[in-house]
Amino acid sequence: MIKVKERKSMLDEVLHGLTGPQKSLPSKFFYDERGSKLFDEITGLEEYYPTRTERAILKQNIDEIGCYLGDEIILIEPGSGSSDKTRILLKGLNNIAGYLPIDISGDYLFSVASELRKAFPEITIQPLQADYTHSIDLPDSLPEGRKVVFFPGSTIGNFKRDTVDRFLNVVADMVGSNGAFLIGADLKKDVDVLLAAYNDSKGVTAEFNKNILRHLNLELGTEFNTDLFDHKAIWNEEESRIEMHLICKEDHEVEVDGKSISFKEGESIHTENSHKYTLDEFSEIVSPWFDVKKVWTDEQGWFSLQYLEPK
Ligand code: AVI
Repeated sequence: MIKVKERKSMLDEVLHGLTGPQKSLPSKFFYDERGSKLFDEITGLEEYYPTRTERAILKQNIDEIGCYLGDEIILIEPGSGSSDKTRILLKGLNNIAGYLPIDISGDYLFSVASELRKAFPEITIQPLQADYTHSIDLPDSLPEGRKVVFFPGSTIGNFKRDTVDRFLNVVADMVGSNGAFLIGADLKKDVDVLLAAYNDSKGVTAEFNKNILRHLNLELGTEFNTDLFDHKAIWNEEESRIEMHLICKEDHEVEVDGKSISFKEGESIHTENSHKYTLDEFSEIVSPWFDVKKVWTDEQGWFSLQYLEPK
């Protein structure tokens, strides 16, 4: 259960999203315990190419990545979760002096950190519980070294444009003029491949999408009936993004904080954006803060891992 202050801000965001002309909910509300498990399941699906592709890029290019990152690295990972892909770096590189995983969910963060300490006793592991979309004060006790932020998974693609800018600003601040940024960015590709990745045949993504309503029911005491909504993922060419929606199947009303919200048959709740980039578009987006110095991709050119340096 979340704290009173967090519940209030969740309620404000939900009411704001559900009372606009296009109903929407912030995608961060997918991720309660069940949502995180469903996302993990998605990453192992045949149709969901990003996770396995990025892992392969990391493994295949580990030596070259090490050369770009340099010596005495302090690796910082915002939204570290299970630190799954980071293990490839921690295992494959011998130049990491410290690792600072940052996550909002403290219990999970600290338990992953203690596992990592056992697996990598030579690396200083210093977990930090914080919301990385706001500016972060790094602990003074960090070992000396070059600060490198690692942000895999193309999570940046889920952000709105103003959040992207704020985040890039936070990262540039964190790494300083001598640091670097290693980021995963999903690339534009055949629309059928994209649609399959977000409309998987086992229906895991559909469950993940509907979990946002279950999460609201748990935290806010709302009574959304998930059977009254269908999952839908579409490609928005103009915005270059996959959009996930929940489509209402019949007219009904749901009470949120004493306010009755009506849902009409066919109406959608927009739950997530997942932007896909060309290499030029991505370099343009980061350009006020960073220069792209190196890009690694897979053979099909589906996903990219990019090494950026501050301007
Ligand atoms: C976390 N994020 C990068 C995923 C994505 O592909 O945008 C979330 C996701 N949504 C549906 N499937 C996966």
